[in-house]
Amino acid sequence: MKVTVVGAGAVGASCAEYIAIKDFASEVVLVDIKEGFAEGKAMDLMQTASLNGFDTKITGTTGDYSKTAGSNVVVITSGIPRKPGMTREELIGINAGIVKEVSSNLLKHSPDAIVIVVSNPMDTMTYLVHKTSGLPKHRIIGMGGALDSARFKYRLAEALDAPISDVDGMVIGGHSDTGMVPLIAHATRNSIRVSEFLNDEQMDYVVQETKVGGATLTKLLGTSAWYAPGAAVSGLVQAIACNQKKIYPCSALLEGEYGLNDICLGVPVVLGKNGIEKIVSIELSKDEKAKVAASAEGVAAVNALLNL
Ligand code: 2OP
Repeated sequence: MKVTVVGAGAVGASCAEYIAIKDFASEVVLVDIKEGFAEGKAMDLMQTASLNGFDTKITGTTGDYSKTAGSNVVVITSGIPRKPGMTREELIGINAGIVKEVSSNLLKHSPDAIVIVVSNPMDTMTYLVHKTSGLPKHRIIGMGGALDSARFKYRLAEALDAPISDVDGMVIGGHSDTGMVPLIAHATRNSIRVSEFLNDEQMDYVVQETKVGGATLTKLLGTSAWYAPGAAVSGLVQAIACNQKKIYPCSALLEGEYGLNDICLGVPVVLGKNGIEKIVSIELSKDEKAKVAASAEGVAAVNALLNL
């Protein structure tokens, strides 16, 4: 299994690190445009191999896509990250050009690869890859829901005063502060609905903090987060590499599912060796359906800015 990660910044490097530590891939190639940067990150990470006990070979290249040839999975993290006070949507102008060029370079050398899009605004960047690459829809996956769900579980565990392993929950909808739909009514603590333990005010707090999870970190760090995004990507790559058939919420092209068409939005999908093996349709309440519809409207408005 060969994986390429484009963008050796904090998110890209964390992806490479977590993929290596989980030790399921033979090779990870890091690509960056900054001279020597990917090579340096790769060398630094390789010097952790004996310490962390992995055999994955990590290499870096300054923009030489021939080194990425034959990748099974490619991850696009490149583009500018948000600064405090910025929305993910404000990045569209610069990031659209970058994502289009990077995906075309990648697919020239790895025409059979499954593409994972991380760059923001992620749902729109995933849609852009659909519109410009000609790849079948099961091979284009947007990473947002896996991260947002991890943040949801963190907030749930905090509110419940429970260990994370006791908690389950999922966030669907767009990967934006207003578009996320944390499915609080479906969230559980060891199979018991969290409403058995939390009052409405506590549940509203969990939902709100989940939605602004990325913004909270951007404010604290001065740039966007990297550990949880990197770990979330590594989970998706592992599900594909090991044909795990795990369910993650991912941004997928919808063709009628959830009553939506011609849009990429976070929904539960089964991930396996072919990428998106199946979109899972779950029964939503009237209120949840309305939230998903509003989220889709927001993403569609950003997609319109692509002028495709
Ligand atoms: C985040 O939410 C990087 O969009 C990503 O932190």
